[in-house]
Amino acid sequence: MTLRVSRLAQRVGHSGTMAVDDRMQALRGLGHDIVSLGAGQLDFDTPAPIGEAGARAITSGQTRYTPVAGTAGLRAAVRSKFERDNRLLYAEDEVIVGAGAKNVIFHALLALVDPEDVVIVPVPCWPSYPPMVAIAGGRVVGARLDARRGYKLTVEGLVSAVAEGRGRTRGLILNSPHNPTGAVYSAEEYARIAEVVEGENLWAISDEIYEHLTYDGAFTSFATLPKMRERVVTANGVSKAFAMTGWRLGYAGGPRAVVRAMEALQSHTSGNPSSISQAAAEAALRLSLDGDPALAETRRAMFQAMLQRRELACRELASLPDVHLVRPAGAFYVFADFSRHFGRELSGKKIQGSTDLAEHLLEHAGVATVPGVVFGDDRCLRVSFATSTEELSVALQRIRKALS
Ligand SMILES: Cc1ncc(COP(=O)(O)O)c(C=O)c1O
Repeated sequence: MTLRVSRLAQRVGHSGTMAVDDRMQALRGLGHDIVSLGAGQLDFDTPAPIGEAGARAITSGQTRYTPVAGTAGLRAAVRSKFERDNRLLYAEDEVIVGAGAKNVIFHALLALVDPEDVVIVPVPCWPSYPPMVAIAGGRVVGARLDARRGYKLTVEGLVSAVAEGRGRTRGLILNSPHNPTGAVYSAEEYARIAEVVEGENLWAISDEIYEHLTYDGAFTSFATLPKMRERVVTANGVSKAFAMTGWRLGYAGGPRAVVRAMEALQSHTSGNPSSISQAAAEAALRLSLDGDPALAETRRAMFQAMLQRRELACRELASLPDVHLVRPAGAFYVFADFSRHFGRELSGKKIQGSTDLAEHLLEHAGVATVPGVVFGDDRCLRVSFATSTEELSVALQRIRKALS
């Protein structure tokens, strides 16, 4: 007998970015030489003092349940981080920590979305937003982002998405620096969006997980725009800022009622995030707030490496025939348009879209990328530059050869 899974589970499916990773691991397991430009994480190790704080938590017995919203120490560090980096003042009960920004964003959506509510998601987008809205019972209206506008949501785009919601539009998900395009919103651009959010009486979730990977221009936290603090949940975490993806630790600040609802929901789902990861994240935030010289130097070196890698990735991809890209101002991805190669026959197979092309590159060039269709734009491939310049060079040469 085969058990039938729920309609919800059938609708949602597996995370597309993780599916690509699984396929790559399987091929590597069979002995294939694959260079991955698919990664959604930095290739650096977690800086030593942070790892040591985690190890100390284990040996000193910090291995029990903590308060659902996080330890007092970590929440205090999160509040100080928001104050120093973002000029956002949150009270103790206006911040929460969870098992990754992913988990925090999910609980924020569960706390904000009623059945049939419409949530606007600028597309292309991180692939988990639409399923999360669906699980919360809401409906997504995609606001199409245009490469000619630097993949940024415009006032016209937002207003027309609100209208598409036919009176049911309640919220908006923003993400800057943006996955997959690397777009970073300026304060002026966000101010124009904030006016619409205020005028249309919307809430917003601002996903700021790539904050510390902003290369060009200044980072702006959406909640700092006039009248936004009471409408916005700001989600962030230590995954990308401190090379801590495996620790699963994210946090959020927002209006008290929403954060308390998130806590109540979390108390029934994941409960508190790992006590060990909380100790490590507290150390990461505290050492960073205190200007610890060793950590500052490690992070500066990481940032410099990322700048170099971005140069290399952009230069090589832009020089490929018939490939177009918008230079990313943040995060660690280039979202490049390969659609002029669609319709070609490569290795005996006609390339119909981004999935075919990504498969071709994986199987015949030994390079893993993520097909744009996973993010809602089938013309592109997402190329991650969170890997060494040596690997990046090899992979980009292989792509060049595979397209010739
Ligand atoms: C845009 C975006 N938001 C959130 C996350 C999740 O981060 P975390 O590891 O904190 O769950 C990711 C991870 O790739 C991401 O790209």
